[in-house]
Amino acid sequence: MIIAIDGFSSCGKSTIAKTLAQILKLPYIDTGAMYRAVTWYFLKHQIDIKDELQVYTALNHIILRFVRDGDQNVLYCNGSPLVEELRSMEVSNMVSEISAIPEVRIKMVTLQQQMGAQGAVMDGRDIGTVVFPDADFKFFLIADPEVRAERRYRELLEKNGTTSFDEVVTNLAHRDHIDSTREHSPLRKAEDAIEIDNTFLTRDEQIAVILKYLNSESMPGQK
Ligand code: DC
Repeated sequence: MIIAIDGFSSCGKSTIAKTLAQILKLPYIDTGAMYRAVTWYFLKHQIDIKDELQVYTALNHIILRFVRDGDQNVLYCNGSPLVEELRSMEVSNMVSEISAIPEVRIKMVTLQQQMGAQGAVMDGRDIGTVVFPDADFKFFLIADPEVRAERRYRELLEKNGTTSFDEVVTNLAHRDHIDSTREHSPLRKAEDAIEIDNTFLTRDEQIAVILKYLNSESMPGQK
């Protein structure tokens, strides 16, 4: 079974996808982490994203895989685990530009299709539209932008405490814009996805809504 969970940044997709994967005993694949890992690598190696050869060569050097560590799914890039690095403001500020590069998307989408082929709960921006357009279930999470910014701000404060709320608001607005207007696989709701506005919903309430759909025979508009 493949479950696609798409939506804007900081809509709580990963919390929901992770919990759902545990309940359903399916692998959880965080595709945002993959784009963040590519961004981290590009920044570390000072790749000029306007130079096609540099981008191509760098992509050929990147090997990504998820490794289970307890209940966490840790992303390894060329043999090194990446956790905190992926959530830094430097990476967040560049990730949308880098994930809009067609070569980056082609490589990530192919990898995601291989990783999820045996079944997965996968979260991202284009899972239901591009990566797995025939996913068994598709959900699209939305939330009020203020609430999203507060959630991300609190998460960052717990980790490093150096980011301002305004910086988070600006970063989210910037990423929303680039993610939804880029030429290749822009962020949009698949026609057959179920939209869930979680502004006022707890994690458990969202899971209950999703499980109700999974327990029904099929989603509206789906085979
Ligand atoms: O889910 P996230 O905030 O960690 O994602 C980081 C960025 O990666 C997001 O701003 C856009 C990009 N992304 C994407 O283009 N396609 C995906 N399937 C997942 C993420």
